[in-house]
Amino acid sequence: MTTPVPLLEISGLQAGYGEITVLWGIDMALQQGEITALIGSNGAGKSTLMRTLSGLIAPRAGKILWNGEDLCGKNPAQILAHGIAHVPEGRRLFGPMNVEDNLLMGAYARREPRAAIARSLDQVYTTFPKLYERRTQAAGTMSGGEQQMCAIGRGLMSAPKLLMIDELSLGLSPLLVEQLVESLQALNRDGLSLLVVEQDVVTALELSSHAFAMDMGRVVQGGGSSAMLHDPAIRQAYLGMLAA
Ligand SMILES: Nc1ncnc2c1ncn2[C@@H]1O[C@H](COP(=O)(O)OP(=O)(O)O)[C@@H](O)[C@H]1O
Ligand SMILES: [Mg+2]
Repeated sequence: MTTPVPLLEISGLQAGYGEITVLWGIDMALQQGEITALIGSNGAGKSTLMRTLSGLIAPRAGKILWNGEDLCGKNPAQILAHGIAHVPEGRRLFGPMNVEDNLLMGAYARREPRAAIARSLDQVYTTFPKLYERRTQAAGTMSGGEQQMCAIGRGLMSAPKLLMIDELSLGLSPLLVEQLVESLQALNRDGLSLLVVEQDVVTALELSSHAFAMDMGRVVQGGGSSAMLHDPAIRQAYLGMLAA
């Protein structure tokens, strides 16, 4: 039996800001059709990794292989065109613009007939009916949860193969987080691969099938999410509890 080529294979990845190195050689593989979670304390480098993967920061060393092709040196538009979309920390919506126009911004780079983009918009509204109700409302006047749906919807409008979401649940109520998790799992069942940064480790590990823990710019642990959820070291480091 041959091992399948990972969807995304990161090796020896180094990146940072100016003189500062933040990522010190990241090795990580993401499989097609899976939800992968990224956990780790504040400042571990999770957002920097996502920014590097989406081309906002140029890697200094290492490889980012996407279906076997190296993405290093590609700009954000090229990476988006390869099928990797990034929902940034803090959502970054255009506040005065309405929901539908924000969603359509996500499709700006698609060279496809209008009908294909309209179909994606329908799919986003099916996934998040709330956004359909609010489609003419200024995005900046919506609740945090609705804005997160809009940011995820904008990411989906690029018709990605991999959707990266930074800080999924930040500032959202537990009920909303539960709804978002269900929506993401439904998208995943339809074939979307996901990489999710999530502060709440239980949510992260329940949502995902695989997970990586980062600390100080390095991957310190990785594996199956349910095994990690029951790992005494993970429980002690991230859940503040001893093994049950
Ligand atoms: N724009 C920036 N300029 C300089 N340093 C930054 C910048 N953004 C983040 N950092 C630094 O990079 C490190 C990792 O940050 P970040 O990737 O945001 O971590 P996380 O998302 O895991 O909380 C931190 O030490 C942070 O101070
Ligand atoms: Mg972050």
